[in-house]
Amino acid sequence: MTQNKCIPSHVAIIMDGNGRWAQQRNQLRATGHRAGLKAVRKIVTYAASIGIKVLTLYAFSSENWKRPSTEVSALISLFMYALNREMKSLNKNNVRLNIIGDISRFSYHLQNMITNAEQLTQNNTGLVLNIAANYGGRWDILQSAQKITAQVVNGEITLDDITEERFASQMCMYDLPEVDLVIRTGGDCRISNFLLWQIAYSELYFTDILWPDFNSTQFDEAIKAFNTRERRFGGIPTTQEHSC
Ligand code: IPE
Ligand code: IPE
Ligand code: MG
Repeated sequence: MTQNKCIPSHVAIIMDGNGRWAQQRNQLRATGHRAGLKAVRKIVTYAASIGIKVLTLYAFSSENWKRPSTEVSALISLFMYALNREMKSLNKNNVRLNIIGDISRFSYHLQNMITNAEQLTQNNTGLVLNIAANYGGRWDILQSAQKITAQVVNGEITLDDITEERFASQMCMYDLPEVDLVIRTGGDCRISNFLLWQIAYSELYFTDILWPDFNSTQFDEAIKAFNTRERRFGGIPTTQEHSC
């Protein structure tokens, strides 16, 4: 269990490295994704146990459709399998599940499964678990711009009413605490179109560990690193000891 002083309220994770994990073992990439799902289970449980309030996991990007169709199908099947299998235990553990992303590209069957899962858990008061599926940071900004533009066109608001707050209110996760910490596994130091607007002042942590190998010890390491950061939000260093 972490001895850290500050537990970030909202942690977002780019779960990268499943393919390489499998390749290192001469196995199919799909095997790596299945191993990745096991890591998800453990990390969700651990996050809830240490008092993280919101965990946002990047499962499938809006660009991941570029992969071979066999891999895309394997990923979508795994997502459906996980939704089916995990819902009961997530609900029992008081987890509130949200799927963020453009789900309209998924089959009606999967869209229904998502809606049902969200409805089942919507009144839960424990960990909020956001799964980003067909999510892109640019899509998120664009869909907000479209909704706001429609309000202007309909005469509901004027151009001057478009404040940062109103714009943010149309983005995914607007009602949740700000993202404190973004973790990316797999060794690459980039965002890959994950949250863009929402991570303006998040702390970023990159690790070479491949996602299937990411466990509570590595999670603690990331939180420890987070605790060494001084978050100034554009201000100047404070002399007071940082409090959570
Ligand atoms: C991350 O692992 C999972 C998804 C993008 C769905 P990758 O499949 O990208 O694994 P690597 O980066 O090829 O090792
Ligand atoms: C980011 O990983 C997407 C997810 C983890 C879901 P990618 O493997 O798709 O990112 P790139 O292609 O290396 O930037
Ligand atoms: Mg990758």
